Amino acid sequence: MKIKNICCIGAGYVGGPTMAVIALNCPKINVTVVDSNPNKIRAWNGDLEKLPVFEPGLKEIIKNVRNKNLFFSSDIDKSIDLSEMIFMAVNTPTKESGVGAGMAADLKYIEACARNIAKVAKSDKIVVEKSTLPVRTAEKIKEILDSEGNDVNFEILSNPEFLAEGTAIQDLFKSDRVLIGSDSTKTAKSAAKSLIEIYSSWIPKKKILTTNVWSSELSKLASNAMLAQRISSINSFSAMCEKTGADIKELSKAIGLDRRIGPKFLEPSVGFGGSCFQKDILNLVYLCKHYGLYEVAEYWHQVVKINDYQKNRFTQKIIDNLDGKIKQKKIVILGWAFKSNSNDSRESASIHVTAKLLSLGANVHVFDPLIKKTQVILDLKKLWKKNTLEKKDINRMLNNFKYTEYPQETILDGTAAVALITDWNEFKKYDWNKIVNQSNNKILIFDGRNILPLKHKRIFKI
Ligand code: NAD
Ligand code: UGA
Repeated sequence: MKIKNICCIGAGYVGGPTMAVIALNCPKINVTVVDSNPNKIRAWNGDLEKLPVFEPGLKEIIKNVRNKNLFFSSDIDKSIDLSEMIFMAVNTPTKESGVGAGMAADLKYIEACARNIAKVAKSDKIVVEKSTLPVRTAEKIKEILDSEGNDVNFEILSNPEFLAEGTAIQDLFKSDRVLIGSDSTKTAKSAAKSLIEIYSSWIPKKKILTTNVWSSELSKLASNAMLAQRISSINSFSAMCEKTGADIKELSKAIGLDRRIGPKFLEPSVGFGGSCFQKDILNLVYLCKHYGLYEVAEYWHQVVKINDYQKNRFTQKIIDNLDGKIKQKKIVILGWAFKSNSNDSRESASIHVTAKLLSLGANVHVFDPLIKKTQVILDLKKLWKKNTLEKKDINRMLNNFKYTEYPQETILDGTAAVALITDWNEFKKYDWNKIVNQSNNKILIFDGRNILPLKHKRIFKI
């Protein structure tokens, strides 16, 4: 099938950047990104400095292709109707209630997409799973499309996304691989060929890998699990280093020089954040249990447990070094995004560290270069709501919370401890000598990324 119009349902961190790159590389295809959230669509159509997703290089592409062959619209039905190919790039968070709550992926958004496509489609469509999904979800989608559809033919492809936030544009341009899973029927192969044609506009053919649908779906979960496993592994060794006097940076370098292991994803931290690693591993654990693979489930669950341990260990280190007395003490948190170069704070370690310090009565001041006060408060409230905290406790903690626009000045003004959690480059450039000296060597600095350029007995590494 020759593709002239693409619809992408979901204008988020995946849908926005991915479709912008497709539109740029395929000028003959009209790409429309739709979303049920009208504010998001308005923002995508608005000021380039205020796009809903911050990614280096993104606004330049949007400027180039927006309203030429890339459109953002709230008219979901019209875009489905007009398109030969529909990407589903909606969120698949961890289920909050019902069977599998706290572990399984919530497929209500993906199922709603399938229902919408079934209702609207009057001609054959290729439906592409872009969201990260449990293995065998395509079966469920097919069932919805065929039982609720208008007797048109739907081909379902799995095409998981491997971009990382903060480097999304460069990842999309130079993907290590593009994965396309399809059935082996003639029509399915032809649908896969249409998608291969799109990607081959800029991705070398040898990097486009075709597999069966289940391998493709499971490869995505497996890739995230293995990446996260490396972080939990190095973080577990950071705890060992602290006990033994070994240096985690030296360890990381020594391990990574083995070509069989490689240097990437061996940076210690306060634990991985982001919307995907934790939820995808929990989903994998759930699936393993579903298939009766309890040992496999426990193996992967440990990756998330070590991540929680690392967040708690970092927070406890701050508390212990303040002699357990943090009530009314001023603590500054540097960084709220889950990683640098992103405006995303979902599952950021900063949320957990801050909530714990506030619960013990500390006065916590937060700064992030991209994430503003309203989002920080929303994130804290979401966690408190999940932990069923009472309103009076929430208000008490919010009274002790402040957001600062002037981090260096705030730190210099009577701070007991600084916790650096996000690896923003600008934090390295602060005048740390002045900060230590002005406090009469009293301030404690907890470098949760090991990025500060100076060594000092009051700077604690992770
Ligand atoms: P997101 O929350 O940023 O965006 C999802 C969007 O879908 C939201 O704007 C939401 O309003 C919209 N939506 C939900 N249901 C809808 C419906 N029925 N109709 C129309 N719009 C609907 O999510 P994201 O971070 O872009 O992630 C999307 C998927 O991609 C997830 O499955 C995620 O695991 C996967 N993924 C994410 C990343 C990443 O870096 N964020 C990378 C690879 C894969
Ligand atoms: C991750 C994967 O890297 C992507 O391939 C995948 O597509 C995506 O998840 C997804 O499915 O959503 P992302 O979460 O955006 O991408 O960012 P990462 O660079 O993987 O970082 C995740 C977290 O791990 C961040 O908090 C980061 O600071 C932390 N991290 C990363 C470390 O602590 N140490 C490292 O060595 C690397």
